[in-house]
Amino acid sequence: MRIKGKEYRTIWFENNIVKIIDQTKLPHQFIIKELKTVKDSINAIKTMEVRGAPLIGATAAYGLVLAIIENIDQSFLNKSAEDLINSRPTAINLKWAVDRMMDKLSRVNSDQILKIALNEANEICEEDIKFCKNIGLNGLKIIEEIYNKKKSTVNILTHCNAGWLATIDWGTATSPIYQAHKKGIPVHVWADETRPRNQGANLTSYELNEEGIKNTIIADNTGGILMQRGEVDMCIVGTDRTLSNGDVCNKIGTYLKALAAHDNDIPFYVALPSSTIDWKIKDFKEIPIEERNPKELSHMEGLDESGNIKKILVYPQQSKSMNLAFDVTPAKYVTALITEKGVCEASSYGLKKLFNK
Ligand code: MRU
Repeated sequence: MRIKGKEYRTIWFENNIVKIIDQTKLPHQFIIKELKTVKDSINAIKTMEVRGAPLIGATAAYGLVLAIIENIDQSFLNKSAEDLINSRPTAINLKWAVDRMMDKLSRVNSDQILKIALNEANEICEEDIKFCKNIGLNGLKIIEEIYNKKKSTVNILTHCNAGWLATIDWGTATSPIYQAHKKGIPVHVWADETRPRNQGANLTSYELNEEGIKNTIIADNTGGILMQRGEVDMCIVGTDRTLSNGDVCNKIGTYLKALAAHDNDIPFYVALPSSTIDWKIKDFKEIPIEERNPKELSHMEGLDESGNIKKILVYPQQSKSMNLAFDVTPAKYVTALITEKGVCEASSYGLKKLFNK
């Protein structure tokens, strides 16, 4: 990924400090923030300085490295693991990364623990990059097929940010788009604004601009009419947790886009690494859906005339508001899942066959 022409990852470890790009300040300010304690990591996840399922997982993994640097005591490590898992409830990658780290660390001596923890956290990041790149190569074939039929710009609608800012590099939903662009296929992205945090406008459009990919921000309710007008060739979104039956939990509003796509015969793809699959939960109603502070809805943030970031109230002062952060798209509305291992049907059969489970 490139920012002002320079290669970055979203998270890295340097001199016993974790460095992140503070995503709450984008697109207006590019700030690299330092996380020095496990508390800093938990706070970064809660406040969404880092967000997106794979990046939350990586931040938790490095959070455990910071915990070991702070205090070698096993009970401190256990409590840190628990607090990290509880910092955001919906993305399964968080628990997946913490469980993977704790499992590895349960078998090592205290003189080796820091080295092994750091290796494992680095490995989680390297693996995510490899998986996201493969998602791109697998999804590229789908975009290519549409282009070969259409012979003109492929219009892709995406929701929220499942781009490199949500992973370590490449992204999930954006990875096939970056691969298509690299191959010279003309693509244009409709970026849903994604109220209330505006990840589509603030992050997806920002990163596509940095990569030189044409994109247009639309209000969340615009996708339907664009689909009816034939201006969307395909949808690709990410996911925070996909069940083994193919049901997809993702940013609030994804479900409504999938319904509109279904009604208009537009393919609706979900891109994900295997770390986002929940093999345990069988019924989507059991997925913990995060409910965030209603102030994220009632207040909006932007640049004021002097170029400072300012927050203002936009709702009636007395009104109540409610801020559910995710919804679930039933598998029947998902054309296919694009994973690091290949593309499969969104079903128990499809996932089991691909992952040999
Ligand atoms: O609340 P966020 O910004 O963490 O939500 C992010 C999403 O919904 C993404 O689509 C999902 O995490 C997949 S990221 C590759």
